[in-house]
Amino acid sequence: MSARKILVTNALPYANGAIHLGHLVGYIQADIWVRFQKMRGHTVHYVCGDDTHGTPIMINAEKQGMTPEAFIAKMYDEHVADFAGFHIGFDEFYTTNSPENKELASSIYRRLKADGKIAVKTISQLYDPQKQMFLPDRFVKGECPKCAAKDQYGDNCEVCGATYAPTELKNPFSAVSGATPELRQSEHYFFKLSECGDFLADWTRQPGRLQKEAANKMGEWFEAGLQDWDISRDAPYFGFEIPDAPGKYFYVWLDAPIGYIAATKHLFDRIGEDLEAYWAEGSDAELYHFIGKDILYFHALFWPAVLKYSGHRTPTAINVNGFLTVNGEKMSKSRGTFITAKSYLDVGLNPEWLRYYYAAKLGSGIEDADLSLGDFVARVNSDLVGKYINIASRAAGFIQKRFDGKLAATLPDSPLVAKLQAAATDLAAGFEGREFSRVLREVMALTDEVNQYVDQVKPWELAKQEGRDAELHGACSLLINLFRLLTIYIKPVLPKLAADVETFLNVAPLQWADAGTLLLGHAIKPYSHLMTRIDPKQVDALVEANKQSLAPAAAAAGPQIEAIAPTINIDDFGKIDLRVAKIIDCKHVEGAEKLLQLTLDLGDHTRNVFSGIKSAYKPEDLVGRLTVMVANLAPRKMKFGLSEGMVLAASGSEPGLYLLSPDSGAQPGMRIS
Ligand code: 2FM
Ligand code: ZN
Repeated sequence: MSARKILVTNALPYANGAIHLGHLVGYIQADIWVRFQKMRGHTVHYVCGDDTHGTPIMINAEKQGMTPEAFIAKMYDEHVADFAGFHIGFDEFYTTNSPENKELASSIYRRLKADGKIAVKTISQLYDPQKQMFLPDRFVKGECPKCAAKDQYGDNCEVCGATYAPTELKNPFSAVSGATPELRQSEHYFFKLSECGDFLADWTRQPGRLQKEAANKMGEWFEAGLQDWDISRDAPYFGFEIPDAPGKYFYVWLDAPIGYIAATKHLFDRIGEDLEAYWAEGSDAELYHFIGKDILYFHALFWPAVLKYSGHRTPTAINVNGFLTVNGEKMSKSRGTFITAKSYLDVGLNPEWLRYYYAAKLGSGIEDADLSLGDFVARVNSDLVGKYINIASRAAGFIQKRFDGKLAATLPDSPLVAKLQAAATDLAAGFEGREFSRVLREVMALTDEVNQYVDQVKPWELAKQEGRDAELHGACSLLINLFRLLTIYIKPVLPKLAADVETFLNVAPLQWADAGTLLLGHAIKPYSHLMTRIDPKQVDALVEANKQSLAPAAAAAGPQIEAIAPTINIDDFGKIDLRVAKIIDCKHVEGAEKLLQLTLDLGDHTRNVFSGIKSAYKPEDLVGRLTVMVANLAPRKMKFGLSEGMVLAASGSEPGLYLLSPDSGAQPGMRIS
């Protein structure tokens, strides 16, 4: 096997907030993969860094009375500590606000321009006259043009799921100053993505490039047509000024992925490695980007095209992971399941418990992973402590006390040695393909077999019997050897534990190839307990520590209640035909972040309704439920089809949506009055 040259990146976290358990899915996944590749003897560089530019960071720094530079420096220290706390072993964790990145962003832009890939167009955008700045969509708020819900963002309505332009909002206001925005024109710089279709179609089709689900998504985007990409923002903006374009800055998403190259450069300058060998066109190194599914568009369209037309190599593959749910639901600040990395460490939970649990849940696909807190406790305690650690703790004491810490020179005959050694090939293939859940299932099945052997030979019984020392020595030495093999296989997931095992076994850092050898006649060190059980109280403390109200001032008085609308008479009310409806089918809507598609039974006919309740409900939980719908609402044509009415749900200032249900006994079609 010849050594591969591999460069791995993780998405650069925004320097605008804490790392939370949702972020950690992707970092832990990549870290495990990198550790595995390093154990195989490949040359791997693993880089990341903070993503530091853009309007939200600029505004937040200002709110805190800090310069953006001071603000991102503080975030940087926090992020570095969080990642180190979870044993994410970046070779480099840099920042996009670096001289290297500035230089690279400028030179890449110049090459794109020279290649005819940059266009200048005049666009109209909402402007905050008080703050004297153009407003990104998320910084304009107002009433939804479709359903009139108040306080909606400028790009989509969280109540009805409609998407629109910020200029369509009714009674818009600037989220920065509260001023009424006005429409102004400005020149923007565009990357001509529209000219990259052929290249991207071909690039995407190369085997191994994208997971199936991601490739399907790409198909949809191609079908919708590639639009030129606006890469400039007007001053004031925290970022890099565009060469020869005073007052114009690179949009954060232009320089963010270039940060991957900048981080590599910073590392390579330090270790004397050649940047071109990894990033220049024609490079024979492998390049993998691990990202969350929300940023696929940037990584699978813009980024390869920017690389290609600026004379760089393109990624070997983009590895996409799904989101994290906690106890089956979206992470929620009010429920205490929006858990920061720091709080997890602060309550004394062992980071490797989470690494193990995530790995046990992760496959190669992009589906969401669920952290079920009860299952987390049960699984870690049973698998890691009850099964894996149990093997060492059953054998180590006897080796120490009875055999002077020395393993036997020969092992008793057992099919387990060959079986565990033979597993190396298949387990390696599992790690390579990011099938971590399968790997751990297999490792645990082997662990179970070793425990059966423990129960058969009962070392504690042998130890009590006269004249059975050789047997005891052999059995315990065999167990220590089997434990060592299992440790090799689990080491990418549990690096700290593996290091402690290496100390105990008195061996050099274990490599994958070490699975082909055994420890015979070897002196080990005294055993001290390697891992404790999770106390469920620690998990309770974690949830408690993360519970926060989104409206702290009003928290004491309960949730904020919206003012009652102007009075109407009974005739006004009578115009609304409310009916009991039975949800007989419910599906996700491809391409819609917030919508579910409901089929409603109204007694004598059915209706199709799109409802913005996806954040709160899973389709399978809704089928069969009764709810209430507005049956005479004018049908609305949406991108996904016709919506024939609306189901009713309660919501308030806190996150959360609560679908209405009639009392039991109500029948589909009944009128509500
Ligand atoms: O979505 C995010 O959190 C971005 N900060 C990711 C950037 S990844 C890369 F392109 F820099
Ligand atoms: Zn709406």
